[in-house]
Amino acid sequence: MKIGVLRELKPENRVALIPEGVQALKSLHCDILIEKNAGAAAYFANNEYQDAGGLIISRQEILTGSELLLMINPFIEKELESIDPSTVLVGFFNTYQNIPFVKKLQQKGITSFSMELVPRTTRAQAMDVLSSMSTVAGYKAVLEAASRLTKFFPMFMTAAGTIKPARVLILGAGVAGLQALAVARKLGAVVEVFDVRSAVKEEVLSLGGRFVEVEGAKEDASAGGYAVEQTEEYREKQMELIHQHAVKSDVIIATAQIPGKKAPVLVKMATINAMKRGSVIIDLAASSGGNCEYTMDGEIVVENGVTIVGKSDFPSDLPADASRMYNNNMISFIKLMITKEGEVNLDFNDDIVKGTCLTHKGELVNERILNIVKSEK
Ligand code: NAI
Repeated sequence: MKIGVLRELKPENRVALIPEGVQALKSLHCDILIEKNAGAAAYFANNEYQDAGGLIISRQEILTGSELLLMINPFIEKELESIDPSTVLVGFFNTYQNIPFVKKLQQKGITSFSMELVPRTTRAQAMDVLSSMSTVAGYKAVLEAASRLTKFFPMFMTAAGTIKPARVLILGAGVAGLQALAVARKLGAVVEVFDVRSAVKEEVLSLGGRFVEVEGAKEDASAGGYAVEQTEEYREKQMELIHQHAVKSDVIIATAQIPGKKAPVLVKMATINAMKRGSVIIDLAASSGGNCEYTMDGEIVVENGVTIVGKSDFPSDLPADASRMYNNNMISFIKLMITKEGEVNLDFNDDIVKGTCLTHKGELVNERILNIVKSEK
């Protein structure tokens, strides 16, 4: 089988496959076609891909000559015209926010898989790109906050006096939130964490965080480890408690999210107006509306002396390791889709293959996305 790897469009710095991945797929009897300079922005050179057994060719040749086409972000829509409908696409299409692209794939009859749809099950852990990228984002969010804050993170006892440690409030203790907690603790901050799922309390405590609890949260074991939407009464209680903790914090890292839904607004204008001047909010949920009322996706806003960073491309800022993690997740996933001889073999009885499939033979396969499309009508 011929596997093609596209160069991502600017400003993306990551690449879907690194030279080590080429070697791994060669050993599975696949030929690997790499678009020229595909890894350049992540510092993987063309000759490293060649040394690993990859063939460097043009974008057009990759689009027309691949049976399996790997990428991260969706490519330019008009390029879909060059692709044969038998080509299988694997990427991270951010489908919840990219329904028009999904419809194009469906219309074209292309088989596509989008890695943010990988089910969050134990067997699928090695393929969970969302978790990998959230790990990167949680880490980078703390570094971004530390570099913007006008104070130290750790406590210092110096001849010039004692400096108090920074206080960090983390909203949402999923993958990004827990990573942010670990990094903020390593930098010496005092960290409080808030989440609607009581199951994460133990993890927060074991990483040295303080768990802020609001009683009465609605939880649903069938939600696959994700949170569910809360009642109005709970939301009011929650908002009040977040306000009390936010005004004492120097940094807020906001990560609260329910997949496919608009991010819950947890930090209102009144809270920001009461926060300490010089505080920093990093809103990782910016691309789905943000957890903070002032957040603007892709922008840095300063309100009442509080800097609100709405950055949605943290993984692209750590391109070498983010690409390595993406690459490893991809290889685990591709192994589910090929035979020992290196031919495509899609087994829709496999829950991971079915759950990750977006479109196949003109059908929208993923139920969550299908429901979004139906609700639009
Ligand atoms: P996750 O689903 O593992 O965690 C989200 C957490 O938020 C869960 O623990 C959930 O219980 C909690 N939550 C949901 N509603 C809540 C509420 N009302 N109050 C408090 N907690 C609530 O998600 P993950 O993987 O940690 O990602 C977090 C966010 O980071 C997502 O919005 C994701 O899109 C974003 N992200 C941003 C990146 C960036 O560069 N800005 C890169 C990667 C991810």
